[in-house]
Amino acid sequence: NSAVFDAKNLRVKLVLLGDSGVGKSCIVLRFVRGQFDPTSKVTVGASFLSQTIALQDSTTVKFEIWDTAGQERYAALAPLYYRGAAASVIVYDITSIESFHKAQYWVKELQKHGNPGIVMALVGNKADLQENRTVSAGDASEYADKNGMFFIETSAKTADNINQLFEASTLNGL
Ligand code: GTP
Ligand code: MG
Repeated sequence: NSAVFDAKNLRVKLVLLGDSGVGKSCIVLRFVRGQFDPTSKVTVGASFLSQTIALQDSTTVKFEIWDTAGQERYAALAPLYYRGAAASVIVYDITSIESFHKAQYWVKELQKHGNPGIVMALVGNKADLQENRTVSAGDASEYADKNGMFFIETSAKTADNINQLFEASTLNGL
């Protein structure tokens, strides 16, 4: 009786997109270092981090993460980072309807100019701020369904659903 070990090592280029201040850098910091920075500085250009996780079936996944700058002046740089990406995480802030509209802009941009077959996740961050919510989970989930995206709400502050987000980004189609 011989066990079959079917281990695979995947490498996933993943890009985060979304309005300035929605918490992209905090999501990455939480995922990679297990920390939260309430005084997080705006990202200039983009930053790169990597993190390897093990899935239940002993597959390992190395994420090569491009954390882009959300400020408008950097919008033209985005294609440099989403080109060639296998997975994208498009983030809005559940307390900001403007950031949800900006997320829809990024979805359209990726549909037009991203890798065909790119995995797209729609992420409502700052889920710890329920009392200030202006984007309903129902509306966001419906929008995600219509666009073939995976949807999740996260909190970089409390760590809620952060690992689940990255795991799902690999399981949904990579
Ligand atoms: P750019 O780099 O300009 O694109 O912004 P960003 O999307 O990277 O935002 P960043 O991660 O720097 O976070 C902006 C602010 O939101 C910071 O003050 C964070 O502390 C705060 N923040 C991020 N995530 C959360 C969260 O889940 N909950 C709460 N309450 N605050 C958060
Ligand atoms: Mg940032």
